[in-house]
Amino acid sequence: MNTANFIPNILEYSLEKATYKWQTPSNIALVKYWGKSNPQIPKNASISFTLNNCHTTTQIEFVKIEPTKTPLFELFFEGKKKDDFKPKIATFFDRIKDYCPYLLQYKMVIHSENSFPHSSGIASSASGMSAIAMCLINLEKDLTANTNEDYLKQKASFLSRLGSGSASRSIEGPLVVWGKHDEIEGSSDLYGVKFPYEIAPIFKDFQDTILLVDKGEKQVSSTVGHNLMIGHPYAENRFKQANDNLSILSKILQEGTIEEFIKLVESEALTLHAMMLTSHPYFILMKPKTLEIINEIWMYRAATKSNVCFTLDAGANVHLLYPKKEKEAINLFIQEKLLRYCQNNQSINDYSGLGGSKI
Ligand code: PMV
Repeated sequence: MNTANFIPNILEYSLEKATYKWQTPSNIALVKYWGKSNPQIPKNASISFTLNNCHTTTQIEFVKIEPTKTPLFELFFEGKKKDDFKPKIATFFDRIKDYCPYLLQYKMVIHSENSFPHSSGIASSASGMSAIAMCLINLEKDLTANTNEDYLKQKASFLSRLGSGSASRSIEGPLVVWGKHDEIEGSSDLYGVKFPYEIAPIFKDFQDTILLVDKGEKQVSSTVGHNLMIGHPYAENRFKQANDNLSILSKILQEGTIEEFIKLVESEALTLHAMMLTSHPYFILMKPKTLEIINEIWMYRAATKSNVCFTLDAGANVHLLYPKKEKEAINLFIQEKLLRYCQNNQSINDYSGLGGSKI
């Protein structure tokens, strides 16, 4: 599949007006994507659990107009006009307009809201961009004779990727790989694919409790962070390590070797932050409480032989990952030991989900 396959042929049908509403989730990477080349091509393959409860709901009303040169849209976030979010969406539309020529034939009114608290430190770009992509794909489906669901999902992921790399992994679930990898059948740099092998029962309905350590704006955006991998002294080794880790994780997921999962996933999280610590300029996104939580997890695991582990995104929040059968015990651990490190004692309970759905 190359990019030309994503340019639609003729538009068979004409619609004066249409409205679509989609809900798509965030995701949490186990092997991290950090470093890219243009246009949003990852330097290594990554894999994530699609989440279920942390999602964006987006409605787009399309009204036919005389064709324009740049896409026309208005944007409302949680009921209020949000002009400061517009440049990011305008860049996204500009990148995808060759693949979605119908964008220039409609005026769009976009209404969007997140299920997680605003500025909770949870990246909303993955869920936000994929929700817009699903609405566009829904319009494309109604304008063309193409009803091939596999193609439409692939294209939705392809478009999402051009908005935010990790968004390519938010269309389906519960595990999605993005980036060409020799051992993952069908994998591509252009879009995410569902992890194509049967996973062991212990990884089904895997739980993710997000501990909200710091709800502020990130000091360094992921765009800046990705760019700091250019000329980074450890970049080439890191890209190789991530691809090797995906080979190892693929076996772990199929075989159910949870001890190995814990080692690999925690190491991936710390390596992502190690890349930040060793870039020029260097920066730190973890907070003291992030480290306190990590220590608590290690002490708890040593004392109880629990299978809980952590991962980190590009921020200070901690994602606590654990098998469903440990839910009750881990909830107690969270209440007793971890909530004290969270802003306003806040956390979000989530688990692996199946991707976007039409509302
Ligand atoms: O999708 P972006 O450009 O915001 O990058 C996200 C990168 C990480 O969240 C840190 C890792 C990942 O693979 O999701």
